[in-house]
Amino acid sequence: MKRLYIATLGCQMNEYDSLKMAQVLSQDYVVTDTPEDADLILLNTCSIREKAENKVYSLAGRFRLLKEKRPKLLVGVCGCVAQQEGARLLRRLPFLDLVFGPQGIYRLPEMLDAVRRGEGPCCDTRLMKDFVIPCLDPPVLVGGSVKASVTIMQGCDNFCTYCVVPYVRGRETSRPPEDIIREVKGLVEAGVKDITLLGQNVNSYGKKGAGFPDFPELLKRVAAIPGLFRLRFTTSHPRDISDALIRSFAEIPNLCEHLHLPVQSGSDRILSRMNRHYTREQYLEVIRRLRLACPSITFTTDVIVGFPGETDEDFEQTLSLLSQVEYDDIFAFKYSKRPFTRAADLDGQVQEEVKQERLEILLAHQRGIGLRRHERFVGQEVEVLVEGRSKADPNEFAGRTRGNHVVNFPSPTDCVGQCVTVPIIQASYHSLKGKEPVRSPRS
Ligand code: SAH
Ligand code: SF4
Ligand code: F3S
Repeated sequence: MKRLYIATLGCQMNEYDSLKMAQVLSQDYVVTDTPEDADLILLNTCSIREKAENKVYSLAGRFRLLKEKRPKLLVGVCGCVAQQEGARLLRRLPFLDLVFGPQGIYRLPEMLDAVRRGEGPCCDTRLMKDFVIPCLDPPVLVGGSVKASVTIMQGCDNFCTYCVVPYVRGRETSRPPEDIIREVKGLVEAGVKDITLLGQNVNSYGKKGAGFPDFPELLKRVAAIPGLFRLRFTTSHPRDISDALIRSFAEIPNLCEHLHLPVQSGSDRILSRMNRHYTREQYLEVIRRLRLACPSITFTTDVIVGFPGETDEDFEQTLSLLSQVEYDDIFAFKYSKRPFTRAADLDGQVQEEVKQERLEILLAHQRGIGLRRHERFVGQEVEVLVEGRSKADPNEFAGRTRGNHVVNFPSPTDCVGQCVTVPIIQASYHSLKGKEPVRSPRS
Protein backbone atom coordinates (compact mmCIF):
# COMPACT_ATOMS: atom_id res chain seq x y z
CA MET A 1 0.00 0.00 0.00
CA LYS A 2 1.12 3.53 -0.75
CA ARG A 3 0.78 6.39 1.75
CA LEU A 4 -1.52 9.40 1.47
CA TYR A 5 -1.19 12.61 3.47
CA ILE A 6 -4.09 15.07 3.39
CA ALA A 7 -3.82 18.62 4.76
CA THR A 8 -7.28 20.13 5.28
CA LEU A 9 -7.99 23.84 5.57
CA GLY A 10 -11.43 25.45 5.83
CA CYS A 11 -14.86 24.37 6.97
CA GLN A 12 -16.50 21.10 8.06
CA MET A 13 -17.42 20.38 4.46
CA ASN A 14 -13.75 20.29 3.53
CA GLU A 15 -13.14 17.90 6.46
CA TYR A 16 -15.89 15.72 5.07
CA ASP A 17 -14.43 15.91 1.55
CA SER A 18 -11.00 14.92 2.85
CA LEU A 19 -12.50 11.78 4.41
CA LYS A 20 -14.16 11.02 1.09
CA MET A 21 -10.84 11.41 -0.76
CA ALA A 22 -9.24 8.94 1.62
CA GLN A 23 -12.13 6.59 0.95
CA VAL A 24 -12.01 6.99 -2.85
CA LEU A 25 -8.31 6.09 -2.75
CA SER A 26 -8.51 3.41 -0.04
CA GLN A 27 -7.79 0.53 -2.46
CA ASP A 28 -4.28 1.84 -3.07
CA TYR A 29 -3.48 4.21 -0.20
CA VAL A 30 -3.41 4.23 3.59
CA VAL A 31 -3.59 7.60 5.34
CA THR A 32 -0.45 8.81 7.11
CA ASP A 33 -0.18 11.81 9.39
CA THR A 34 3.35 12.74 8.35
CA PRO A 35 3.88 14.38 4.94
CA GLU A 36 7.57 13.34 5.00
CA ASP A 37 6.78 9.66 4.33
CA ALA A 38 3.83 10.17 1.95
CA ASP A 39 3.67 9.00 -1.69
CA LEU A 40 0.79 11.38 -2.41
CA ILE A 41 0.03 14.71 -0.71
CA LEU A 42 -3.33 16.43 -1.19
CA LEU A 43 -3.88 19.97 0.06
CA ASN A 44 -7.61 20.65 0.49
CA THR A 45 -8.02 24.42 0.45
CA CYS A 46 -10.36 27.21 1.55
CA SER A 47 -10.91 30.56 -0.13
CA ILE A 48 -13.39 32.22 2.22
CA ARG A 49 -10.99 35.00 3.25
CA GLU A 50 -7.65 36.19 1.87
CA LYS A 51 -5.82 34.81 4.91
CA ALA A 52 -7.12 31.29 4.21
CA GLU A 53 -6.01 31.55 0.60
CA ASN A 54 -2.51 32.71 1.59
CA LYS A 55 -2.07 29.62 3.76
CA VAL A 56 -2.27 27.53 0.60
CA TYR A 57 0.88 29.06 -0.82
CA SER A 58 2.89 28.74 2.38
CA LEU A 59 1.94 25.06 2.85
CA ALA A 60 2.48 24.29 -0.84
CA GLY A 61 6.00 25.72 -0.46
CA ARG A 62 6.74 23.12 2.23
CA PHE A 63 5.50 20.31 0.00
CA ARG A 64 7.63 21.58 -2.91
CA LEU A 65 10.75 21.08 -0.77
CA LEU A 66 9.69 17.48 -0.05
CA LYS A 67 9.19 16.87 -3.75
CA GLU A 68 12.64 18.24 -4.54
CA LYS A 69 14.09 15.55 -2.26
CA ARG A 70 11.78 12.80 -3.57
CA PRO A 71 10.76 13.45 -7.19
CA LYS A 72 8.38 10.45 -7.18
CA LEU A 73 6.15 12.15 -4.62
CA LEU A 74 2.86 13.36 -6.17
CA VAL A 75 1.33 16.63 -4.89
CA GLY A 76 -2.19 17.87 -5.58
CA VAL A 77 -4.13 20.97 -4.57
CA CYS A 78 -7.91 20.64 -4.35
CA GLY A 79 -10.88 22.35 -2.73
CA CYS A 80 -12.11 25.90 -3.06
CA VAL A 81 -8.87 27.72 -3.99
CA ALA A 82 -8.18 25.08 -6.65
CA GLN A 83 -11.67 25.65 -8.04
CA GLN A 84 -11.18 29.42 -7.96
CA GLU A 85 -7.76 29.46 -9.60
CA GLY A 86 -7.88 26.44 -11.94
CA ALA A 87 -4.97 26.25 -14.38
CA ARG A 88 -3.53 29.52 -12.98
CA LEU A 89 -2.50 27.49 -9.93
CA LEU A 90 -0.41 25.17 -12.13
CA ARG A 91 1.37 28.18 -13.56
CA ARG A 92 2.01 29.65 -10.12
CA LEU A 93 3.02 26.30 -8.56
CA PRO A 94 4.50 24.37 -11.52
CA PHE A 95 5.64 21.42 -9.37
CA LEU A 96 2.01 20.36 -8.79
CA ASP A 97 0.75 17.12 -10.35
CA LEU A 98 -2.96 17.67 -9.73
CA VAL A 99 -5.39 20.56 -9.40
CA PHE A 100 -9.09 19.80 -8.91
CA GLY A 101 -12.19 21.36 -7.37
CA PRO A 102 -14.71 19.94 -4.86
CA GLN A 103 -16.59 18.12 -7.61
CA GLY A 104 -13.39 16.45 -8.86
CA ILE A 105 -12.92 14.28 -5.76
CA TYR A 106 -14.72 11.32 -7.23
CA ARG A 107 -12.61 11.41 -10.42
CA LEU A 108 -9.35 11.21 -8.43
CA PRO A 109 -8.38 7.63 -9.37
CA GLU A 110 -8.65 8.41 -13.12
CA MET A 111 -6.67 11.64 -12.70
CA LEU A 112 -3.92 9.81 -10.80
CA ASP A 113 -3.76 7.13 -13.52
CA ALA A 114 -3.31 9.84 -16.14
CA VAL A 115 -0.49 11.46 -14.16
CA ARG A 116 1.22 8.10 -13.70
CA ARG A 117 0.96 7.40 -17.43
CA GLY A 118 3.05 10.54 -17.84
CA GLU A 119 0.25 12.64 -19.28
CA GLY A 120 1.57 15.63 -17.36
CA PRO A 121 -0.07 17.63 -14.60
CA CYS A 122 -3.81 17.19 -14.52
CA CYS A 123 -6.23 20.08 -13.94
CA ASP A 124 -9.95 19.32 -13.54
CA THR A 125 -12.04 22.19 -12.26
CA ARG A 126 -15.21 21.61 -14.25
CA LEU A 127 -18.23 22.81 -12.29
CA MET A 128 -21.39 21.00 -13.35
CA LYS A 129 -24.84 22.48 -12.63
CA ASP A 130 -26.47 19.07 -12.24
CA PHE A 131 -23.68 17.48 -10.18
CA VAL A 132 -24.82 14.75 -7.76
CA ILE A 133 -22.47 13.68 -4.96
CA PRO A 134 -21.89 9.97 -5.61
CA CYS A 135 -22.67 7.47 -2.84
CA LEU A 136 -19.59 5.39 -2.06
CA ASP A 137 -19.62 1.74 -1.14
CA PRO A 138 -19.15 0.97 1.73
CA PRO A 139 -20.98 4.19 2.67
CA VAL A 140 -18.52 5.18 5.41
CA LEU A 141 -14.96 4.71 6.49
CA VAL A 142 -14.47 5.80 10.11
CA GLY A 143 -12.67 4.58 13.13
CA GLY A 144 -13.61 5.25 16.71
CA SER A 145 -15.03 8.74 16.39
CA VAL A 146 -17.99 9.91 18.50
CA LYS A 147 -18.93 12.72 16.13
CA ALA A 148 -19.24 12.82 12.36
CA SER A 149 -20.67 15.03 9.63
CA VAL A 150 -22.61 14.12 6.51
CA THR A 151 -22.99 16.49 3.58
CA ILE A 152 -26.65 16.65 2.52
CA MET A 153 -26.40 19.48 0.00
CA GLN A 154 -23.62 21.60 -1.38
CA GLY A 155 -23.28 24.82 -3.29
CA CYS A 156 -25.22 28.02 -2.80
CA ASP A 157 -27.63 30.13 -4.86
CA ASN A 158 -27.77 33.06 -2.44
CA PHE A 159 -24.94 35.26 -3.67
CA CYS A 160 -24.34 37.30 -0.54
CA THR A 161 -22.24 40.12 -1.98
CA TYR A 162 -19.11 39.34 0.11
CA CYS A 163 -19.03 35.59 -0.43
CA VAL A 164 -16.99 33.46 -2.82
CA VAL A 165 -18.77 30.17 -2.00
CA PRO A 166 -21.31 30.19 -4.88
CA TYR A 167 -18.39 30.56 -7.31
CA VAL A 168 -16.26 27.79 -5.85
CA ARG A 169 -18.89 25.29 -4.70
CA GLY A 170 -21.27 25.95 -7.58
CA ARG A 171 -25.08 25.99 -7.50
CA GLU A 172 -27.09 24.22 -4.80
CA THR A 173 -27.40 20.50 -5.27
CA SER A 174 -29.04 18.08 -2.82
CA ARG A 175 -28.10 14.46 -2.26
CA PRO A 176 -30.83 11.83 -2.63
CA PRO A 177 -32.40 11.14 0.79
CA GLU A 178 -31.71 7.40 0.55
CA ASP A 179 -27.95 8.07 0.17
CA ILE A 180 -27.99 10.30 3.26
CA ILE A 181 -29.93 7.75 5.33
CA ARG A 182 -27.59 4.98 4.23
CA GLU A 183 -24.53 6.99 5.18
CA VAL A 184 -25.89 8.03 8.59
CA LYS A 185 -26.91 4.42 9.34
CA GLY A 186 -23.38 3.26 8.46
CA LEU A 187 -21.89 5.85 10.82
CA VAL A 188 -24.25 4.94 13.68
CA GLU A 189 -23.40 1.25 13.19
CA ALA A 190 -19.71 2.18 13.39
CA GLY A 191 -20.34 3.76 16.82
CA VAL A 192 -20.88 7.43 15.95
CA LYS A 193 -23.36 9.09 18.33
CA ASP A 194 -23.48 12.73 17.27
CA ILE A 195 -24.19 13.53 13.60
CA THR A 196 -24.13 16.97 11.95
CA LEU A 197 -25.89 17.35 8.60
CA LEU A 198 -23.88 19.73 6.45
CA GLY A 199 -24.70 22.18 3.68
CA GLN A 200 -23.91 25.78 2.79
CA ASN A 201 -27.63 26.40 3.14
CA VAL A 202 -29.32 23.30 4.58
CA ASN A 203 -32.80 24.86 4.55
CA SER A 204 -32.74 24.72 0.77
CA TYR A 205 -32.37 20.94 0.92
CA GLY A 206 -34.58 19.17 -1.61
CA LYS A 207 -35.82 22.28 -3.42
CA LYS A 208 -34.33 21.11 -6.70
CA GLY A 209 -34.61 17.33 -6.40
CA ALA A 210 -37.77 15.84 -7.91
CA GLY A 211 -39.63 13.94 -5.18
CA PHE A 212 -37.08 14.85 -2.47
CA PRO A 213 -38.43 15.63 1.02
CA ASP A 214 -37.95 19.17 2.32
CA PHE A 215 -35.40 19.81 5.06
CA PRO A 216 -37.69 19.41 8.12
CA GLU A 217 -38.97 16.11 6.67
CA LEU A 218 -35.40 14.91 6.02
CA LEU A 219 -34.53 15.77 9.64
CA LYS A 220 -37.43 13.62 10.84
CA ARG A 221 -36.31 10.67 8.72
CA VAL A 222 -32.68 10.90 9.81
CA ALA A 223 -33.62 11.41 13.48
CA ALA A 224 -35.65 8.16 13.36
CA ILE A 225 -32.56 6.04 12.57
CA PRO A 226 -32.22 3.63 15.51
CA GLY A 227 -29.24 4.34 17.76
CA LEU A 228 -28.73 7.97 16.64
CA PHE A 229 -28.22 9.79 19.90
CA ARG A 230 -27.73 13.42 18.84
CA LEU A 231 -28.55 15.20 15.59
CA ARG A 232 -27.41 18.68 14.49
CA PHE A 233 -27.23 20.65 11.26
CA THR A 234 -25.33 23.61 9.84
CA THR A 235 -25.60 26.15 8.22
CA SER A 236 -29.04 27.75 8.04
CA HIS A 237 -29.90 31.00 6.32
CA PRO A 238 -32.13 33.16 8.56
CA ARG A 239 -34.58 33.96 5.76
CA ASP A 240 -35.36 30.27 5.19
CA ILE A 241 -36.31 29.27 8.74
CA SER A 242 -39.79 27.82 8.25
CA ASP A 243 -42.48 27.10 10.87
CA ALA A 244 -41.93 23.41 10.25
CA LEU A 245 -38.23 23.76 11.06
CA ILE A 246 -39.01 25.68 14.25
CA ARG A 247 -41.42 22.90 15.26
CA SER A 248 -38.65 20.32 14.69
CA PHE A 249 -36.80 21.69 17.72
CA ALA A 250 -39.85 21.04 19.89
CA GLU A 251 -40.83 17.71 18.35
CA ILE A 252 -37.67 15.74 17.53
CA PRO A 253 -36.17 14.48 20.81
CA ASN A 254 -32.63 13.77 19.52
CA LEU A 255 -32.34 17.09 17.63
CA CYS A 256 -29.98 19.11 19.83
CA GLU A 257 -31.06 22.49 21.21
CA HIS A 258 -28.49 24.54 19.34
CA LEU A 259 -28.74 26.60 16.18
CA HIS A 260 -25.94 28.34 14.34
CA LEU A 261 -27.75 31.23 12.67
CA PRO A 262 -25.33 33.61 10.92
CA VAL A 263 -26.54 37.21 11.22
CA GLN A 264 -23.49 38.98 9.67
CA SER A 265 -24.62 42.47 10.76
CA GLY A 266 -27.17 44.19 13.00
CA SER A 267 -27.72 47.08 10.60
CA ASP A 268 -30.50 46.93 7.99
CA ARG A 269 -28.52 49.14 5.64
CA ILE A 270 -25.54 46.76 5.70
CA LEU A 271 -27.74 43.65 5.54
CA SER A 272 -29.27 45.02 2.37
CA ARG A 273 -25.85 45.82 0.87
CA MET A 274 -24.86 42.25 1.75
CA ASN A 275 -27.92 40.91 -0.14
CA ARG A 276 -29.03 38.93 2.92
CA HIS A 277 -32.80 39.32 2.31
CA TYR A 278 -33.82 39.89 5.94
CA THR A 279 -33.97 42.83 8.30
CA ARG A 280 -32.73 42.99 11.86
CA GLU A 281 -36.34 42.82 13.07
CA GLN A 282 -37.12 39.75 10.96
CA TYR A 283 -34.03 38.02 12.31
CA LEU A 284 -34.98 38.85 15.90
CA GLU A 285 -38.50 37.55 15.25
CA VAL A 286 -37.06 34.18 14.13
CA ILE A 287 -35.01 34.04 17.34
CA ARG A 288 -38.12 34.83 19.43
CA ARG A 289 -40.17 32.11 17.73
CA LEU A 290 -37.41 29.55 18.18
CA ARG A 291 -37.10 30.39 21.89
CA LEU A 292 -40.85 30.10 22.29
CA ALA A 293 -40.86 26.63 20.68
CA CYS A 294 -37.74 25.48 22.52
CA PRO A 295 -36.88 27.61 25.60
CA SER A 296 -33.51 25.93 26.23
CA ILE A 297 -32.19 26.53 22.69
CA THR A 298 -28.75 28.16 22.39
CA PHE A 299 -27.64 30.33 19.49
CA THR A 300 -24.28 30.96 17.87
CA THR A 301 -23.62 33.21 14.90
CA ASP A 302 -21.17 34.63 12.35
CA VAL A 303 -20.48 38.37 12.17
CA ILE A 304 -18.53 40.38 9.61
CA VAL A 305 -17.03 43.71 10.70
CA GLY A 306 -15.86 46.41 8.29
CA PHE A 307 -18.10 45.48 5.37
CA PRO A 308 -17.83 48.25 2.70
CA GLY A 309 -19.84 51.27 3.83
CA GLU A 310 -20.11 50.17 7.49
CA THR A 311 -20.20 53.29 9.68
CA ASP A 312 -19.73 53.56 13.44
CA GLU A 313 -23.55 53.66 13.76
CA ASP A 314 -23.93 50.46 11.73
CA PHE A 315 -21.32 48.78 13.89
CA GLU A 316 -23.14 49.97 17.06
CA GLN A 317 -26.24 48.24 15.72
CA THR A 318 -24.31 44.97 15.50
CA LEU A 319 -23.15 45.35 19.11
CA SER A 320 -26.69 46.01 20.28
CA LEU A 321 -27.99 43.01 18.34
CA LEU A 322 -25.48 40.76 20.14
CA SER A 323 -26.82 42.08 23.47
CA GLN A 324 -30.40 41.53 22.38
CA VAL A 325 -29.95 37.94 21.19
CA GLU A 326 -27.42 36.88 23.84
CA TYR A 327 -25.48 34.35 21.80
CA ASP A 328 -23.60 31.64 23.63
CA ASP A 329 -20.70 32.11 21.21
CA ILE A 330 -19.87 33.94 17.98
CA PHE A 331 -17.42 33.70 15.09
CA ALA A 332 -16.32 37.17 14.02
CA PHE A 333 -14.39 38.10 10.89
CA LYS A 334 -12.92 41.20 9.33
CA TYR A 335 -14.39 41.73 5.88
CA SER A 336 -12.01 40.39 3.22
CA LYS A 337 -12.25 41.21 -0.51
CA ARG A 338 -12.91 38.07 -2.56
CA PRO A 339 -12.62 37.44 -6.30
CA PHE A 340 -15.81 37.51 -8.41
CA THR A 341 -17.86 39.07 -5.57
CA ARG A 342 -19.90 42.27 -5.87
CA ALA A 343 -18.76 43.74 -2.53
CA ALA A 344 -15.16 43.83 -3.77
CA ASP A 345 -16.17 46.71 -6.08
CA LEU A 346 -18.44 48.57 -3.62
CA ASP A 347 -17.43 52.03 -2.50
CA GLY A 348 -16.68 52.75 1.15
CA GLN A 349 -14.03 50.05 1.69
CA VAL A 350 -13.10 50.22 5.40
CA GLN A 351 -9.49 50.71 6.51
CA GLU A 352 -7.67 47.74 8.05
CA GLU A 353 -7.07 49.56 11.38
CA VAL A 354 -10.79 50.34 11.71
CA LYS A 355 -11.70 46.71 10.99
CA GLN A 356 -9.18 45.51 13.58
CA GLU A 357 -10.49 47.94 16.19
CA ARG A 358 -14.12 46.93 15.55
CA LEU A 359 -13.20 43.25 15.75
CA GLU A 360 -11.57 43.73 19.14
CA ILE A 361 -14.51 45.76 20.50
CA LEU A 362 -16.95 43.14 19.21
CA LEU A 363 -15.07 40.22 20.76
CA ALA A 364 -14.72 42.02 24.12
CA HIS A 365 -18.46 42.78 24.07
CA GLN A 366 -19.30 39.14 23.33
CA ARG A 367 -16.95 37.87 26.07
CA GLY A 368 -19.21 39.51 28.67
CA ILE A 369 -22.35 38.05 27.10
CA GLY A 370 -20.80 34.59 26.66
CA LEU A 371 -19.62 34.54 30.26
CA ARG A 372 -23.11 35.44 31.57
CA ARG A 373 -24.68 32.79 29.33
CA HIS A 374 -22.24 30.13 30.57
CA GLU A 375 -22.55 31.11 34.23
CA ARG A 376 -26.17 29.96 34.25
CA PHE A 377 -24.88 26.36 34.27
CA VAL A 378 -22.78 26.71 37.44
CA GLY A 379 -24.33 24.53 40.14
CA GLN A 380 -26.28 22.51 37.56
CA GLU A 381 -25.76 19.04 36.14
CA VAL A 382 -25.39 18.73 32.37
CA GLU A 383 -25.41 15.81 29.93
CA VAL A 384 -22.00 15.51 28.26
CA LEU A 385 -21.09 13.30 25.31
CA VAL A 386 -17.38 12.69 25.85
CA GLU A 387 -15.25 13.27 22.74
CA GLY A 388 -11.74 12.70 24.06
CA ARG A 389 -9.02 13.99 26.36
CA SER A 390 -9.02 17.71 27.11
CA LYS A 391 -6.55 19.66 24.93
CA ALA A 392 -5.57 21.99 27.77
CA ASP A 393 -5.07 19.22 30.36
CA PRO A 394 -4.60 15.62 29.14
CA ASN A 395 -5.57 14.35 32.61
CA GLU A 396 -9.07 15.67 31.99
CA PHE A 397 -11.76 14.72 29.52
CA ALA A 398 -13.66 16.98 27.12
CA GLY A 399 -17.09 16.72 25.61
CA ARG A 400 -20.12 18.72 24.60
CA THR A 401 -23.57 19.39 25.95
CA ARG A 402 -26.58 19.16 23.65
CA GLY A 403 -26.41 22.96 23.45
CA ASN A 404 -22.86 22.56 22.03
CA HIS A 405 -21.00 23.94 25.07
CA VAL A 406 -17.54 22.47 25.59
CA VAL A 407 -17.16 20.87 29.05
CA ASN A 408 -13.80 19.87 30.59
CA PHE A 409 -13.88 17.59 33.65
CA PRO A 410 -11.83 14.97 35.53
CA SER A 411 -12.88 11.33 35.61
CA PRO A 412 -11.42 8.31 37.41
CA THR A 413 -12.31 6.07 34.44
CA ASP A 414 -11.86 6.49 30.70
CA CYS A 415 -15.29 7.64 29.56
CA VAL A 416 -14.56 8.59 25.91
CA GLY A 417 -17.54 7.84 23.70
CA GLN A 418 -19.94 7.74 26.64
CA CYS A 419 -22.65 10.08 27.79
CA VAL A 420 -22.12 11.22 31.38
CA THR A 421 -23.77 13.64 33.81
CA VAL A 422 -21.34 16.33 34.96
CA PRO A 423 -21.91 18.91 37.75
CA ILE A 424 -20.64 22.30 36.57
CA ILE A 425 -18.41 24.24 38.97
CA GLN A 426 -17.00 27.06 36.82
CA ALA A 427 -17.74 28.97 33.63
CA SER A 428 -15.57 30.89 31.20
CA TYR A 429 -16.81 32.74 28.13
CA HIS A 430 -16.55 29.78 25.83
CA SER A 431 -16.33 26.65 27.94
CA LEU A 432 -17.48 25.04 31.18
CA LYS A 433 -15.54 23.23 33.87
CA GLY A 434 -17.04 20.29 35.74
CA LYS A 435 -16.43 17.84 38.58
CA GLU A 436 -16.26 14.06 38.24
CA PRO A 437 -19.41 12.65 36.61
CA VAL A 438 -22.12 11.83 39.12
CA ARG A 439 -24.08 9.07 37.46
CA SER A 440 -22.78 5.90 35.91
CA PRO A 441 -22.23 6.45 32.22
CA ARG A 442 -24.77 5.51 29.59
CA SER A 443 -23.18 4.47 26.33
N1 SAH B 1 -23.10 29.21 4.32
C1 SAH B 1 -22.87 29.81 5.53
C2 SAH B 1 -21.43 30.12 5.86
C3 SAH B 1 -20.51 30.56 4.81
S1 SAH B 1 -18.86 30.95 5.20
C4 SAH B 1 -23.79 30.98 5.67
O1 SAH B 1 -24.48 31.35 4.77
O2 SAH B 1 -23.83 31.56 6.72
C5 SAH B 1 -18.76 31.22 6.93
C6 SAH B 1 -18.70 32.64 7.34
O3 SAH B 1 -17.58 33.29 6.80
C7 SAH B 1 -19.87 33.49 6.89
O4 SAH B 1 -21.01 33.31 7.66
C8 SAH B 1 -19.31 34.88 7.01
O5 SAH B 1 -19.50 35.41 8.29
C9 SAH B 1 -17.82 34.68 6.77
N2 SAH B 1 -17.39 35.22 5.49
C10 SAH B 1 -17.78 34.83 4.26
N3 SAH B 1 -17.21 35.61 3.30
C11 SAH B 1 -16.43 36.50 3.97
C12 SAH B 1 -15.59 37.59 3.54
N4 SAH B 1 -15.45 37.91 2.27
N5 SAH B 1 -14.94 38.30 4.51
C13 SAH B 1 -15.10 38.00 5.81
N6 SAH B 1 -15.88 37.00 6.25
C14 SAH B 1 -16.54 36.26 5.35
FE1 SF4 C 1 -21.96 32.51 1.20
FE2 SF4 C 1 -24.30 33.68 1.62
FE3 SF4 C 1 -24.22 31.30 0.42
FE4 SF4 C 1 -23.61 31.50 3.00
S1 SF4 C 1 -25.63 31.96 2.08
S2 SF4 C 1 -22.48 30.35 1.46
S3 SF4 C 1 -22.61 33.47 3.14
S4 SF4 C 1 -23.42 33.20 -0.40
FE1 F3S D 1 -13.84 27.62 2.71
FE2 F3S D 1 -14.88 26.38 0.67
FE3 F3S D 1 -15.74 25.86 3.12
S1 F3S D 1 -14.32 28.50 0.72
S2 F3S D 1 -15.47 27.80 4.15
S3 F3S D 1 -13.73 25.46 2.34
S4 F3S D 1 -16.98 25.93 1.27
